[in-house]
Amino acid sequence: MTQGPTRRTVLFATGAAALTVGCSEYGDNSDSGSDSVEASAGTELAKTSDIPVGGGKIFKDEKVVVTQPKEGEFKAFSNICTHQQCPVANVSDGTINCTCHGSKFKIADGSVANPPATKPLPEKQITVDGNSIRLA
Ligand code: FES
Repeated sequence: MTQGPTRRTVLFATGAAALTVGCSEYGDNSDSGSDSVEASAGTELAKTSDIPVGGGKIFKDEKVVVTQPKEGEFKAFSNICTHQQCPVANVSDGTINCTCHGSKFKIADGSVANPPATKPLPEKQITVDGNSIRLA
């Protein structure tokens, strides 16, 4: 007869602990406190499997080109051509290509492979976390 209240107390304590854990996890997920839709640090751009080896992929909204010059090596560059600021159009044969006037940039380091551009594409910071590529 004296066990009833005791068991209820134990259950209540367990429930309270679970609630506390839930709250703190939620707090961690809210990160920097910014809920804006801008592409910002930590935004997942792609899965590593989305980026072809020896090629790359253009993310227009995030204004970034992600390349994989060698298997497992990922780089990111601005998608804006340094010639006259057209967004680059495609990635093929080891270069990032602007079709406005024909400039090409190497996928390994963004350097100019074909003029008229004279300056490399600025590199952007990314992090590869498991199989997900994020803006750093
Ligand atoms: S703007 Fe890209 S080649 Fe001229």
